[in-house]
Amino acid sequence: DEKKLKKFYIGSIDQGTTSTRFIIFDGIGHPVAQHQIEFSQIYPHSGWHEHDPKEILTSVEQCIEKATQAFIYQGHDISDIKAIGITNQRETTLVWDTNTGEPLYHAVAWPDTRTKGIVRELKAKEGADELQKICGLPLSTYPSSVKLLWLLKHVDTVRKAYEEGRLTFGTVDTWLLYQLNGKDRKYFVTDATNASRTMFMNLNTLQYDDTLLKFFDLDRNKVALPKIVPSSSPDEFGALAYGPLKGIRIAGCLGDQSAALVGQQGFTPGCAKNTYGTGCFLLYNVGEKPVASTHGLLATVAYDFGGQRKPVYALEGSIAVAGSGVQFLMNNMGFITQSHKISELAATVEDNGGCVFVTAFSGLFAPYWIDDAKGTIFGITQFTERGHIARATLEATCFQTKAILDAMELDSGHKLSALAVDGGMSNSNLCMQTQANLIGIPVDRPAMRETTALGAAIAAGFAVDIWKDFDELKEINQKDRMIFEPKITKEESAKMFKKWGKAVEMCRGWLD
Ligand code: G3P
Repeated sequence: DEKKLKKFYIGSIDQGTTSTRFIIFDGIGHPVAQHQIEFSQIYPHSGWHEHDPKEILTSVEQCIEKATQAFIYQGHDISDIKAIGITNQRETTLVWDTNTGEPLYHAVAWPDTRTKGIVRELKAKEGADELQKICGLPLSTYPSSVKLLWLLKHVDTVRKAYEEGRLTFGTVDTWLLYQLNGKDRKYFVTDATNASRTMFMNLNTLQYDDTLLKFFDLDRNKVALPKIVPSSSPDEFGALAYGPLKGIRIAGCLGDQSAALVGQQGFTPGCAKNTYGTGCFLLYNVGEKPVASTHGLLATVAYDFGGQRKPVYALEGSIAVAGSGVQFLMNNMGFITQSHKISELAATVEDNGGCVFVTAFSGLFAPYWIDDAKGTIFGITQFTERGHIARATLEATCFQTKAILDAMELDSGHKLSALAVDGGMSNSNLCMQTQANLIGIPVDRPAMRETTALGAAIAAGFAVDIWKDFDELKEINQKDRMIFEPKITKEESAKMFKKWGKAVEMCRGWLD
């Protein structure tokens, strides 16, 4: 059976916040060829974070090119690649001219906080309290809606295009599908997981909601919004129109955190995963009905495999800074030369030496939602070394994960028995041990950590009938998982967490 399945390959485009990957998986979920490219992070002002839409597209094209070359070099045949999946950084907002397809501004990336003022105004507006019930998200700088409002308010070309009815809005999935399908631009779609991050979609109907659009004062005749479709579909996403894989169908599309949940096979209510990428996102499967959070979490679409299957929802805890904290120590502070060296640096000291680093570079997300928090390091003395700061940086994500798990337990009434993890920072044994210590349950790490890309490949594979039932995936990526058991007492972890809580309170309201 394994031999038979191996003949199938699925390509997966993983367009993340700091890098793009293309991975070709075989039928048992092994990556056989891959390529990864980092692209420019543009920070025009403090709190602003942009990407060049064309560079994003080129990075995808180049990754496909290089990974395919490696695939062919290994003696494989392109005709065995049955489908392609796309997964992407969510919320990041793009606008382009409907007539020319040309971007009208850089992509405003999800951690960008330039919308703080707009958010403050919107929170005071009538109807603001009703939004989260409809779309699952609280008003904050995070979703696409407020980014689009900023563009309409501050960029003349965007405003003009809107007034003239030739403005197109899209998240990264839509931009890529629109471009990769070629010049006739027939495919202007987004999947339900990506759409659930805009604040424009009703979580129950999975369609745009007039109350939401009206609240944001958006006229659908003036701005084109992509059609919302299921995440797994043989004919909604088109096919690659050029490049070495020309003609191969795109059959899966998921926001990256949803893809990671699928890649970790979190298909049963009660399953959760935590992905330590640029940010860190914990998704908890709540089943076929959305669960509204009353403890600072988001309600979102986990995945929608279409056909007879009902959409599945998740509670999400979003942490804005994880790997980007490590990158900050590397690029801005010069503490390390390669990001994986963070563990070595952290291991030069026994503990954080009394330092707590609230890495609130984009304010604080879940469960706190403090837009005006700024990154703050507490507890510095003459004793403090780089190693302490390195530890405190890793711990910041672990503390927020603990806060999210507490909130999730309150929202769901269910305590997790173990936490499945993946993503770049999960490669650090020191970080994962710290995580297990702080949450007091085992941390469970798969051997193959490209679960996000795997999830998009699974969505594509289902659409073209490589798999028909989740049970068929059972063996995928289950071997050689590593379990980190908690090694400190509850009292010790509670003491550390208390300090963190105090630091969070103290980093509020820093003046701009
Ligand atoms: O919501 C933002 C998220 O989708 C970004 O994911 O992995 O690039 O941090 P990542």
